[in-house]
Amino acid sequence: MNASVSPHDIQTARRSLDSAATVIVLTGAGISADSGVPTFRGRGGLWKNHRPEELATPAAFARDPRLVWEWYGWRRALVAACRPNEAHLALARWAADRSGVHLITQNVDGLHVAAARDAGTVLELHGSLFRTRCPGCGATRESRESIDASSESTLPRCDRCGDTLRPDVVWFGEPLDSHVLGRSFELAEQTEACLVVGTSGVVQPAASIASVAARAGAALVEVNLEPTPITTSANVSLRGRAAEIVPSLVG
Ligand code: OAD
Repeated sequence: MNASVSPHDIQTARRSLDSAATVIVLTGAGISADSGVPTFRGRGGLWKNHRPEELATPAAFARDPRLVWEWYGWRRALVAACRPNEAHLALARWAADRSGVHLITQNVDGLHVAAARDAGTVLELHGSLFRTRCPGCGATRESRESIDASSESTLPRCDRCGDTLRPDVVWFGEPLDSHVLGRSFELAEQTEACLVVGTSGVVQPAASIASVAARAGAALVEVNLEPTPITTSANVSLRGRAAEIVPSLVG
């Protein structure tokens, strides 16, 4: 166990989670760091001198779809080689073994879904790297093939209308899926406990799911390597790696 996490804090957090009839688990990139997926704001957040904020936008796709797909193709290949870690697996077992647990993730890596026994129990706020969407007709589909971004003519195209497909992820400046977001806030308002794992807590509206839960009276437990804006509202904040701490909370 990480030296900065006391057994007393683990026990307190465990008790809050065990005694709650309903728990939401809000995760961010930190939960997948132990699987080898790079986080957004830490080291390795740069790609060929482009910042994600410059590539993950509708304007960037309109300007240069080939460059945007080159980046997403690279990320898909990187993530496809990663497997769920002990934190994803422990949460998936927990959600399957007891009622009232809901997983809400900001991650687009699909690792919660890969670990889940029932993929329908995971709310993906920011979409999925492994789905495409047609900007023209809106059709979405699962997509795991490698991307040939050598020219615009080799990019994936819509079977129905021929438009160049885009990744089905939320880009900067775009709204989140209203059904997924509405359901997440509904759960946050009703939950008795909220476990927040590996998010910097700076991207809205996802980060406010935790504060809505806390304001509605939920016990808030945070797992992160560092303090975040969420830490001040947390009943227990555990400093350390998700793959190490989460199994001791929900195992
Ligand atoms: P960030 O990269 O902003 O933050 C990752 C967090 O995980 C940081 O607070 C780290 O301290 C923590 N962390 C890193 N490794 C960890 C580990 N092994 N165990 C526990 N914690 C660890 O990622 P997010 O908060 O998920 O949105 O970023 C939110 C959103 O910003 C993303 O979903 C993405 C990005 O813009 C979109 O693409 C729409």
